[in-house]
Amino acid sequence: MDTSIEHDVDLAPLSTLGVAARAAHFCAADSAASIREALAWADSNRHPVLIVGGCSNIVFASDYAGLVLKPSIAGREKVGETPAHHLVRVGAGENWHETVAWTLAQGWPGLENLALIPGNVGAAPVQNIGAYGLELTDCFDSLEAIDRDTGETRTLTRADCRFGYRDSIFKHPAGSRLIVLSVTFALPKRWSAHAGYRDVSEELAARSVTSPSPQDIFDAVVAVRQRKLPDPAVLGNVGSFFKNPIVSAAAHAQLQGLHPALVSYPQADGRFKLAAGWLIDQAGWKGRALGRARVHPNQALVLTNTGGASGSEILALAQAIQADVRQRFGVVLEPEPIIIGPALPT
Ligand code: EPU
Repeated sequence: MDTSIEHDVDLAPLSTLGVAARAAHFCAADSAASIREALAWADSNRHPVLIVGGCSNIVFASDYAGLVLKPSIAGREKVGETPAHHLVRVGAGENWHETVAWTLAQGWPGLENLALIPGNVGAAPVQNIGAYGLELTDCFDSLEAIDRDTGETRTLTRADCRFGYRDSIFKHPAGSRLIVLSVTFALPKRWSAHAGYRDVSEELAARSVTSPSPQDIFDAVVAVRQRKLPDPAVLGNVGSFFKNPIVSAAAHAQLQGLHPALVSYPQADGRFKLAAGWLIDQAGWKGRALGRARVHPNQALVLTNTGGASGSEILALAQAIQADVRQRFGVVLEPEPIIIGPALPT
């Protein structure tokens, strides 16, 4: 069991954005018992606690004065099956992409559309990560979490997690005291391809693949992501910086009248999701920099740290984009990552 607490820790190398920030205290805890021990230490010293995964979706715009706690629980195993699914449990500290590759190697496909997403398994349900027509919730069975208020371990079903678009109970007061220990996936025994998303179908066509295998989809997704999204190991970023905004049918109709090329997706409830990347691109921000923060030239929804940018510099660029998109389109862009420090207006 490892519960060693480090002090005054540099967070830049631990996060994909790579902005300078320090944690007063840091602990990578490799078991439920060590997480409990670290929490007890923080409580007895009256330190606030911030739970992080791979720090791939967090912007440190200031130092963190409390304990940054990283659940680092390992382990991947099949724990059962139903008539339709393999049930596979994975520790919160396992790397997401390696887990996707491992499930394919075991002959249990289903997660391949989510290949190459940075971060750890424990963070995946918090964001309900999604890409290329699939969301985590589509392959989710249950998870185990520690309740910080009672110290007990709880099992949460899909309904309990209240998954939404890049949203879950863990981002709301009802679930903010829960720390994910492991996730159990339900991977289909009768697999069928999700190859309808345009970027993926075009990539498969370019490879002359007509009846894709799970590995074909995995390879296509990896190729698309490598082309459009910056590799965080090379260029600091947190993936999409804003959520795709959802607007009413009336607002959508009005916008489409003014901008016939508007990219939007109808939602089940009659509203429309707009492609924030398109709005930002149309506003002329693609490739533009403010200081050392830059809008990625291949995907306007991604803000990058070109080297040595502070969290505040990244937020200044985000704010300028928000203000401009609001003025041009009357649409409010909501940040997608978690921001530590001054909140952005939403
Ligand atoms: N677009 C532009 N210009 C741009 C970027 C996009 O015109 O600079 C247009 C595209 O041509 C396309 C539409 O906007 O018509 C949507 O773009 P894309 O397919 O790249 O997806 P996205 O909506 O920008 C979302 C997710 C990504 C995920 C992709 C693929 C969010 C916030 N982002 O991006 O997730 O990889 O779909 O499924 O939902 C992330 O969450 O960090 C992330 C990268």
